[in-house]
Amino acid sequence: MKILVLNGPNLNMLGLREPEVYGAQSYADLEQFIQAAALDADCAVEIRQTNHEGVLVDWIQQAYGAFDGIIINPAAYTHTSVAILDALKAVSLPTVEVHLSDISRREAFRGHSYVSAACLQTVKGQGFDGYRQALLALRAHIMGMREANLQ
Ligand code: DQA
Repeated sequence: MKILVLNGPNLNMLGLREPEVYGAQSYADLEQFIQAAALDADCAVEIRQTNHEGVLVDWIQQAYGAFDGIIINPAAYTHTSVAILDALKAVSLPTVEVHLSDISRREAFRGHSYVSAACLQTVKGQGFDGYRQALLALRAHIMGMREANLQ
């Protein structure tokens, strides 16, 4: 099973960036954490980060036919991007949204996610572990879809 993990703007600054919100660990630590979780879950992951909205749109489009599912933390674009929502709807791959922090308990403008409408589930406020939870939920969903297709 091949999963594309997409991380949006400023997540490359983890460790330096608002450690009281996002923790002291770096983006490299997050990549390592996700790779270890993927190994445990017997999934192959490709992890990418960009600060650019259009690049996220391109990567989502290119995932069609190449990956079984997507995990996305769109970061600030969560709260602004109809383009990312439309790209996810266009490819219609099973997708789980992740946020390190609990966006429902922060500033009001973080309370709305455009992207959620195209996602099976949103995992928020769980730190790095949210990516592991997202991976397990996505894997279970994809395995369920495969079984249903065999019947
Ligand atoms: C975030 C939450 C967003 O509101 C914020 O803009 C981010 C990170 C999170 O992982 O908690 O950059 O997506």
